[in-house]
Amino acid sequence: MEAEHRLIETVVKALGGVAAAVELGERPAVARMATAVEFLRVYADQLHHGKEEKLFFPMLVKRGVPPQGCPIGGLNHEHEKGRALVQALAEQASVYAQGKPGAKEVLLETLRGIQDLYENHIWKEDAMVFPMADKVLTAADQTELCKKFAEVDRAIGSETIARLEQFARSLATGTGPTFQAGGSPTSGCGCGGG
Ligand SMILES: [Fe+2]
Ligand SMILES: [Fe+2]
Repeated sequence: MEAEHRLIETVVKALGGVAAAVELGERPAVARMATAVEFLRVYADQLHHGKEEKLFFPMLVKRGVPPQGCPIGGLNHEHEKGRALVQALAEQASVYAQGKPGAKEVLLETLRGIQDLYENHIWKEDAMVFPMADKVLTAADQTELCKKFAEVDRAIGSETIARLEQFARSLATGTGPTFQAGGSPTSGCGCGGG
């Protein structure tokens, strides 16, 4: 789970870099943005949040952690917020690429919202929830979770997971194509200089 956090952080941090570039008037590469959205939907949400919501959190509840409020209720609420932000990112990135007026500001707000939300969320789980889990879960609980996590991995498919992990690693090492398409959005400011 912590290894998944590191890769999610990498992608989210790269989106912070996209925000800085968009602010300067650059246009992110549409295909890379689509892969980032796919990563957030499939790897961060379906795979990672799926494990947390369907297996890890219920196991904590079974061992006496309250299902509502802090921390589980709050974390589940943040997963919902993340889903809405990623949906907004998918829509706004293509609107921005088409050079629609006002698209830059909403896209920037979403990119920064995603970075803030995920960094903060991951920090809470790493610093508070995982250490708490080590205290309340038994060795048998941990083994059972590992087995069930592997089933989630299998359901999503090892090829899909490997491809999305490779995408995240390429961002960390700077070995893959960047998000930069170069130039300003099509139609841009209308001065023809883009
Ligand atoms: Fe989470
Ligand atoms: Fe998590």
